[in-house]
Amino acid sequence: MAGKAWGGVFREGQDQRVEAFTESVSFDRRLYSHDIEGSVAHAQMLAKVGLLTDEECRQIEQGLTEIRHEIEQGRFEFKTELEDIHMHIERALIERLGDVGRKLHTGRSRNDQVSTDLRMWCREAIDQINERVLHLQTAFVGRCDADADCILPAYTHMRRAQPVLAPHYWLAYCEKFERDRLRLIDCRTRVNVSGLGAAALAGTSLPIDPQDTAKRLQFDSVAANSLDVSGDRDFVVEFAFVLTMIAEHLSGWAEEWILWSTVEFDFLRLPEAFCTGSSIMPQKINPDVLELIRGKTGRVVGNLQALLVLVKGLPLAYNRDLQEDKPRLFDSFDTVRDCLDIAAPLVEGAKLNREAIESRLEHGYLDATTLMEHLIMRGTPQRTAHQTVGALVRKAKDRDVALKELTTKELQEVDENLDDGVLKVLGVKNAVDAFQSYGSTAPQQVKTQVDIWKSKLGLG
Ligand code: ARG
Repeated sequence: MAGKAWGGVFREGQDQRVEAFTESVSFDRRLYSHDIEGSVAHAQMLAKVGLLTDEECRQIEQGLTEIRHEIEQGRFEFKTELEDIHMHIERALIERLGDVGRKLHTGRSRNDQVSTDLRMWCREAIDQINERVLHLQTAFVGRCDADADCILPAYTHMRRAQPVLAPHYWLAYCEKFERDRLRLIDCRTRVNVSGLGAAALAGTSLPIDPQDTAKRLQFDSVAANSLDVSGDRDFVVEFAFVLTMIAEHLSGWAEEWILWSTVEFDFLRLPEAFCTGSSIMPQKINPDVLELIRGKTGRVVGNLQALLVLVKGLPLAYNRDLQEDKPRLFDSFDTVRDCLDIAAPLVEGAKLNREAIESRLEHGYLDATTLMEHLIMRGTPQRTAHQTVGALVRKAKDRDVALKELTTKELQEVDENLDDGVLKVLGVKNAVDAFQSYGSTAPQQVKTQVDIWKSKLGLG
């Protein structure tokens, strides 16, 4: 075990198979930049408290900078026997500086080091996702003016329910993604706590200054309990959950737009640049991008599940199981980032088929509930009004006509008090105009919300 940083106590060499089985550098090399940044801050703190001389600190900073360049230029050699990215960087430093390099790990363990690196990585990843979610919201809000007067059927149980303005749909997605953004921001506050100083699990007898490293690395605070923070991965699970909610929201949207772009619905034309063809059926223009957004949600959900099971039943403090957190987290991040990146141009480029939508808008009795509410306003108890409109829909269905096409005689066969007055709420256009409540699809409400979103997103 002579070559190992931890080899002192061992009498036997390590089985080759163990090296390959336990390594993590194949995936945690992704943390190299954060690891170097963390080590620079750690060295500076060690110099400040007198555990390193200023000259030693300078050499370490210089050495780490050179190692960073080597990695970035692809000249750095990764070897399985050095386990993880932390050992690789430290070993490279020792090869350059000898004993000075051997001092870097003073007052630190890989346990607090990896936790800190990963928190720094999460911080950046959260900011990147946040930015992309904002971009997607901007794409939805960007459609609102052009689609302002387009009425769409809205569904419950996948059955036509009530009419809504197209921007009401677009802003519905903005609201979902806004909750995701708030979750990201909230999650970031728990991510942004420094674990450096916890050392292996109990802290250290050396006179280190964890507040100092935390400040240098822009953490909001230092964890108050070393035993907790050294093995805590709540922040990983939490971020993975927020990513999962984003994936779920994207997946529901993708499903809806796949349906809307079918010949059967014909509500929407997807931009051809974002569709793919069939190798056998020449006519096909397939929504593969949307299908993959929907499909990739499976891996993101799976990653969250894997992480939840990973931390289940782990005793305090660090356990090697925790090394398995990174592949799952990285995959969720990459997947959701890529989905968000490709979703935005799709939202921008899709076109509503106004004619096809309009031609069938009076099918499905989208105005029935508004008629019921009109009767309520005229003094009819809700349950009675519901029955009355139910009977009118029955009559209209039997003749295969819309409610507004019923004759006065037919209206009065159901309720003798009814007359042409009901026409002012019938037909989808009238029905939409009749809405009033806050947050509804009432044109004025939708306009107000569009304006709120525009100013929130800084759109002119
Ligand atoms: N590669 C390890 C991980 O990702 C680093 C921490 C190793 N700590 C230890 N005590 N073996 O979790």
